[in-house]
Amino acid sequence: MKILNFGSCNIDYVYSLHGIVRAGETAETTRREVFAGGKGLNQSIAAARAGVAICHAGCVGEDGRFLLEILEQSGVNTRFMRKVDGPSGHAVIQVDDEGENAIFIHAGANARIDRAYIDEVLSHFSSGDLIVLQNEIVNNDYIIDRAYEKGLLIVLNPSPINDAVKKLNYDKLFCIVINEIEGEALTGESDPGRILTTLRRMHPALQILLTLGDKGCIFDAPDKRCVQPAFEVRALDTTAAGDTFTGYFISALSRGAPTKKCLKEACAAAALAVSRMGAAPSIPTYKEMREALKTLKIKKSESADEQTLTKIDGYFDAALRDASLTELSKLLGYSTYYTGRIVKSLTGKAFSEYLCEKRCGRAAQLLVATDMPISAIIHEIGYNNESFFRTKFKAAYGQMPLQYRRTMRQKND
Ligand code: RIB
Repeated sequence: MKILNFGSCNIDYVYSLHGIVRAGETAETTRREVFAGGKGLNQSIAAARAGVAICHAGCVGEDGRFLLEILEQSGVNTRFMRKVDGPSGHAVIQVDDEGENAIFIHAGANARIDRAYIDEVLSHFSSGDLIVLQNEIVNNDYIIDRAYEKGLLIVLNPSPINDAVKKLNYDKLFCIVINEIEGEALTGESDPGRILTTLRRMHPALQILLTLGDKGCIFDAPDKRCVQPAFEVRALDTTAAGDTFTGYFISALSRGAPTKKCLKEACAAAALAVSRMGAAPSIPTYKEMREALKTLKIKKSESADEQTLTKIDGYFDAALRDASLTELSKLLGYSTYYTGRIVKSLTGKAFSEYLCEKRCGRAAQLLVATDMPISAIIHEIGYNNESFFRTKFKAAYGQMPLQYRRTMRQKND
């Protein structure tokens, strides 16, 4: 599989200041630096530093020599790059004391990517190859149509999000990498779970990678879901963290690494990138990332999936007797089909199995802590059929209910 990134290259003018400037405000900066950047360039460098062979196509202007140099030094193949008259694309980036940023970009040479050039580059790629796109160049709609016709797997990072990128044909894509802001713009939903459900409904075959900043990320494919919490790190500059994540993910994906490993390495690389200044220069090599993984600690915030699991368990605690998939799906705001899938992915069990586990668990508590007769316990936990309950209980606890009561009480005496 060959990998092509058709993407932007920017000169980043980075201004450090105490707080990001608001409308009508003027503020003094504490530092100004110039780095290589652009979402496309950053992602290509991340993929190359992660160890994959990648070609970058795009345009730089007369001032873009150092952009080509850093691509080449990082191991990116630049044979398809073009130099054009006029300036390269550039970004003006404010970075505050917390490492947060605000960016505006000027397209420059990134707006010079025309159809003839696209056709020429794509003629070197064929079915099964992978193409990566972001939203800082022109003619993405044309690239997607041609790449799709040729059978390329298309990964889109629709960033920065705008009306043009929202209108692209997502059914032609293999995978999208989005953050919560982009997810909300595409679906109208702000909750990560709902963003994913809505996108799944809109584009059933799409692989979706939703990044959640310091809460990690969720990968959602038609047949599986995988969650990776973020790593604890002191943020110096968050610029290019998302690009580092995307490049590393693409690299691991193309190597056929298991999803969990792809996500873990991508999160670790992004954590390192936020602990360093600048865009491209902040992207770690694979060796640095593996070394850091030995000491990086998972950030202790509840992930989206942990929150969902808390809700599911809370529902079973509150409504054990009458629990049903329909009611749980109403509580979570998902379809019954999707709720069943979420229960399975978070607990490893089908809804009915997990409910059975919860019911037997409650029965075990009642058997030990009360003198309730079996019939009352069975009623309390929501079963009607006594022999069914006994069979399930024995399978879970290795003993019939009354025998279990005796054994446990003897132990406690
Ligand atoms: O994602 C970070 C990048 O966004 C910066 O390097 C800047 O060039 C902008 O494109």
